[in-house]
Amino acid sequence: MSETSSSGRPIIIAANRLPVMRADGGQWTPSPGGLVRALYPMLRESGGTWVGWTGEPDDDPEPFTVEGVDLRPIPISADEMTLYYEGFSNDALWPLYHDALRESTFDNDQWQAYRSVNERFAAELAEVAPDESVVWVHDYQLQLVPGLLRERRPDLTIGFFLHIPFPPVDLFTRLPWRDQIATGLLGCDLVGFQRPKDAANFVATVDQLLDVAIDGNTIAHGGRTTSVGEYPISIDVAEVEEIATGRATRQRTSQIRARLGDPEVIMLGVDRLDYTKGIGLRLRAFARLLEDGRLDPTRHVMVQVATPTREAVEHYQDERASIERLVGEINGRFSRIGLPVVHYLYQSLPYDELVALYRAGDVMLVTPFRDGMNLVAKEYAAAHIDGDGVLVLSEFAGAADELTDAVLVNPHDERALQDAIVEAVEMHRHERRGRMSGLRDQIRKSDVQGWADRFLAALDVASTTRKES
Ligand code: G6P
Repeated sequence: MSETSSSGRPIIIAANRLPVMRADGGQWTPSPGGLVRALYPMLRESGGTWVGWTGEPDDDPEPFTVEGVDLRPIPISADEMTLYYEGFSNDALWPLYHDALRESTFDNDQWQAYRSVNERFAAELAEVAPDESVVWVHDYQLQLVPGLLRERRPDLTIGFFLHIPFPPVDLFTRLPWRDQIATGLLGCDLVGFQRPKDAANFVATVDQLLDVAIDGNTIAHGGRTTSVGEYPISIDVAEVEEIATGRATRQRTSQIRARLGDPEVIMLGVDRLDYTKGIGLRLRAFARLLEDGRLDPTRHVMVQVATPTREAVEHYQDERASIERLVGEINGRFSRIGLPVVHYLYQSLPYDELVALYRAGDVMLVTPFRDGMNLVAKEYAAAHIDGDGVLVLSEFAGAADELTDAVLVNPHDERALQDAIVEAVEMHRHERRGRMSGLRDQIRKSDVQGWADRFLAALDVASTTRKES
């Protein structure tokens, strides 16, 4: 990928977060989450512009450059952080877009703050985007930006990618501001989703709510057209493989295994601590298997990394409390002195430490109730350059469409989840290697570079179609 689109025009990325945030000591460190992990390496390769928030309230630094990427911070006040970020984005939209796993809060003040932060993004983009350039907007926090930007800058090519699921019509239409959000997205030339189902949900939604004419994957509205498509996101496979191959990683992997007491099987979970991820579910399955004697605490251990996220939102506080109580109960019951059965880290780990952990993990448990894609599943396969290791993957993660060599499971079915874990633990080496080779072939076929290239090529076609129609 270069910093230009396939037609040679400059690209500006807009996402809620900049790819870096301030660490405790004030220095810049990578921001959390799959979105940044996927997009940043792509932009870092060649330079480019990224408009977003530093993650700190009232933080308004001058534009700066990190690793060749031109970063343009958008200030967000403490009030807006509560209303726009914690409130509308993560307490209204996030649960609604994830199968309404928790109740959404719908609050007019939050909506107003969402609008005004989206306006600020649009104003900054309108100012920094060169004539006829390409603006690529990301994720649910910025769904009004395409419409607002289109009003200011009809010359631009505007694309949007939703990293999380787009809900079915019956859920989306609960949203009091459903028309405004749907209209906002139609400011784009191309709206991209993770799975065909998400794209179909969006098309059905605008069909029901707005005055549009639909022809295949093109939506005609008010004299313009917007295309829709699915572009499953991926990871920088080469980067993960390079870290996994390094001597330091190999040494760290052996050290981790030794520190865990050299168990026969290490089971691993790596997630943001989010109620969509099904962390409690897998802990309960593990506990039940120990209780029933199907797993043995002297031979099987679990490592769960839970990255802190959205800590001011009550649903997240409840989820953390419930997970930590469970970890305590399981360890209290099944651990031995110096050898816990569950190793729980509520921390954000450096990427190379994560890759070392992936390599140490014999069985990776990715069991979300609902997930747009889940890049951890792909990272695990990329890290297993030894060709071994088993991935247990929820059918409700977007990644399940592609990673069909995983042990696929319905996480709502307790017994099925327990059986899937035992199947993974007991799987014969020959089958393990066969499945891992299938997983690795799949992710190599479609890494993040290919994802971006495909989206940007389709965006060029869509903008040409719009201009000619
Ligand atoms: C998910 C979302 C991203 C978000 C990330 C981290 O991956 O799709 O938009 O940036 O989580 O969440 P946070 O709220 O910390 O930005």
